[in-house]
Amino acid sequence: MAIQIDWKNLGFAYMQTECYLKCEFVNGSWGEIEVCQDPHVSLHIAATCLHYGQAAFEGLKAFGRKDKSIAMFRPRENARRLIRSAQRLVMEPPPEELFLSMASKLIQLNRDYVPPYETGASMYIRPCLIGTAPHIGVHPSENFMLIMLASPMGPYYKKGFFPVKGYIQEEYDRAAPRGVGFTKAGGNYAAGMMGDMDGNKKGFPICLYLDAASHQYIDEFGSSNFLAITRDNKYVTPASQSILQSITNTSLQLIAADFGLTVEKRPVRVTELADFAEVGACGTAVVITPVSSILHGSRVYSFGKEDEAGAMLTRLYQEIKGIQYGDIPDRHNWMYPADAA
Ligand code: PLP
Ligand code: COI
Repeated sequence: MAIQIDWKNLGFAYMQTECYLKCEFVNGSWGEIEVCQDPHVSLHIAATCLHYGQAAFEGLKAFGRKDKSIAMFRPRENARRLIRSAQRLVMEPPPEELFLSMASKLIQLNRDYVPPYETGASMYIRPCLIGTAPHIGVHPSENFMLIMLASPMGPYYKKGFFPVKGYIQEEYDRAAPRGVGFTKAGGNYAAGMMGDMDGNKKGFPICLYLDAASHQYIDEFGSSNFLAITRDNKYVTPASQSILQSITNTSLQLIAADFGLTVEKRPVRVTELADFAEVGACGTAVVITPVSSILHGSRVYSFGKEDEAGAMLTRLYQEIKGIQYGDIPDRHNWMYPADAA
């Protein structure tokens, strides 16, 4: 029986699909890729992921394209970032090729759940690596599980590409210099929940975090990178050792350079907010979310209109989406066919 999905009204929420995939690292080697239907995993009660947070994840998207093909956006970059996260958290890094073949297989097995081109939605793929061996003393696991789920997704924020108001969260820090902020450790998101919820309660859908050491420099939003366009059309984004290297951001920097913009990746003082014409949050889930204003203490910085994204963010957004959906030639070779591995 054909599945019935209201593609146009998908939010950013989990939907159970045909299956997820699992691969375990036991006795020093990765096993076979297992296809699982029951969306529960069985874990030892003393598994290191449960007690000591040995867990990291990834997020990438696959797109149903105009020519009916399905392609992922830069999955090798996610595979490499998971390796970096695993190394920092003393976990076994899954080989790039394992990651890629799992992602391709997952999409093929769940192809009925890949939103068709005309829906404007996409298939979100969530790989997750956890330590599974039992240890009560603080000790890295010897065994690991890589799970990968897929779920059709709509926009992260209800209104999609529409400005939101931001809040600088100074009461709670998210990631420390020389800590694990550059990884996609699950614990980073637990660390950010209190600050994000506090901002949400005050009426701000998105919180911006400053560097935890001095609170003078912009780090990133809770689940996306910070980017700004200056009045003289420069693309500015923070360099910081405690932020995630966003694949969306690095891609947008290349697109901005293609457009002739100067790209500056450098420490960004919070007071520079006064110089920006447009501000955005970027990441796989949001692509770009325009930020119309940011509250810092009692000072409000505004960037353009409250109900309309700025011209350059709109141009960047359309370009990256165009490449992802196959409407614009893939000049940087970013799209990876879902049946390639
Ligand atoms: N920063 C954080 C903290 C994130 O969780 C994400 C989401 O993945 C990003 C940035 C954006 O990274 P990417 O563009 O690779 O999805
Ligand atoms: C993503 O953009 O893929 C993310 O992982 C953000 C997320 C934590 C919802």
